[in-house]
Amino acid sequence: MIKISDSVYSVGVLNPNLRVFDIVMRTDFGTSYNSYLVCGEKKALIETCHDTFFEAYLENIREVCDPAEIDYIILNHTEPDHSGALYRLLELCPKAEIVCSQAASIYLKNITNAKDFQAKVVRDNDTLDLGGGRELRFINAPFLHWPDSMFTYLPDERVLFSCDFFGSHYCEPRMIDVHITYPAKYQVALKGYFDAIFGPFRPYVLKGIEKIKDLPIDYVCTSHGPVLTPGGLFPQVLAQYTEWAQPVKNDKPQIPIFYCSAYENTQRVAEKLREGVLAVLPEAEVPLYNIIDHDMGLLQEKLGCSDAFMVGSPTINRDAVPPIWELLSHVDAINNQKKPVLVFGSFGWSGEAVPAIISRLSLLKLAVFGEGFKVNFVPDEQDLEKAVALGREFAESLKK
Ligand SMILES: Cc1cc2nc3c(=O)[nH]c(=O)nc-3n(C[C@H](O)[C@H](O)[C@H](O)COP(=O)(O)O)c2cc1C
Ligand SMILES: [Fe+2]
Ligand SMILES: [Fe+2]
Repeated sequence: MIKISDSVYSVGVLNPNLRVFDIVMRTDFGTSYNSYLVCGEKKALIETCHDTFFEAYLENIREVCDPAEIDYIILNHTEPDHSGALYRLLELCPKAEIVCSQAASIYLKNITNAKDFQAKVVRDNDTLDLGGGRELRFINAPFLHWPDSMFTYLPDERVLFSCDFFGSHYCEPRMIDVHITYPAKYQVALKGYFDAIFGPFRPYVLKGIEKIKDLPIDYVCTSHGPVLTPGGLFPQVLAQYTEWAQPVKNDKPQIPIFYCSAYENTQRVAEKLREGVLAVLPEAEVPLYNIIDHDMGLLQEKLGCSDAFMVGSPTINRDAVPPIWELLSHVDAINNQKKPVLVFGSFGWSGEAVPAIISRLSLLKLAVFGEGFKVNFVPDEQDLEKAVALGREFAESLKK
């Protein structure tokens, strides 16, 4: 337990050994499941923690009060790293009322599977009086990073409970920014967290910043990683979030072509498609990336920043090849929605690669161009001419 301000106590749990979060996030510096008790005349618990750490969490709460004294459990977000301990905790908090957003109340029903589940739904700017001059105000923060997300603000002590926003999978014993021992590692954790959690929601990040930037704040109580302060890292983190969330603007159209090719058949088509695009958009940058020759992280970034792109794969064993799927598994479906994409590839007898890629990209709601382009084994002159023509058509469509 750490006392943050007059009435705020940090009662969360450290998990220094965690190395993977939510299947895909590497967490080289562990994490923490932060939770805070706000003690006015009434007591409010903000967030719970991962179910695995229930016992340790309970001990931390008991250092401040008996759980039975808790009047409200406020869930800024219902992902199980915040709500996991809720159900067991509720048994020890008979009078506690759950306070959350409308979306969160729906999710919690299906997360707790409690038959008699009830929550007090709060909307943007609603307040909750804890007595003793302590009032909480709720700030809607949808898609930061689930539809249910909100912030909670304690004006009297200038504390913002920002949930995952400004968070990081980072763990040190003294969880406040001024005591961070390895600032460079913290920076890696902060950026990794932003990219994975908020990268798909950049416009919402900017809206979230707008909502809190003029609030008087002495403490930003995040749900993972250190508490941030104005004299510590908060100004820097706020500036970083603002910079990272800016929309990408390219000086020249960026139309990368990603492909794999065992015998250069798909590659030849790629070259001709490029020729066609450049005939119509000579100012465009149309780099050819044979996927296996490049770093996957770099390719993902190029795809994310592109104005349009192409994907080419031969059919091998009735499918596109694994490097293509790996690249596509990192397509950020939110920021790439409606992005034009052309799919192509060489095949021998069954030719599933092109339709399989098209089907995947359509599900992600990208704007797939036409039926794609398939050539049988080695492209002949006619195929190559068709590829140039298709490249031109694709480029023309981008001008509209
Ligand atoms: C191991 C292997 C498996 C293949 N499996 C299929 C297949 O299931 N269906 C198909 O249409 N073509 C199949 N092919 C044929 C390739 O799609 C064809 O050779 C194509 O021209 C290769 O294009 P690339 O030079 O761009 O790699 C296979 C080829 C290899 C080498
Ligand atoms: Fe989350
Ligand atoms: Fe979280």
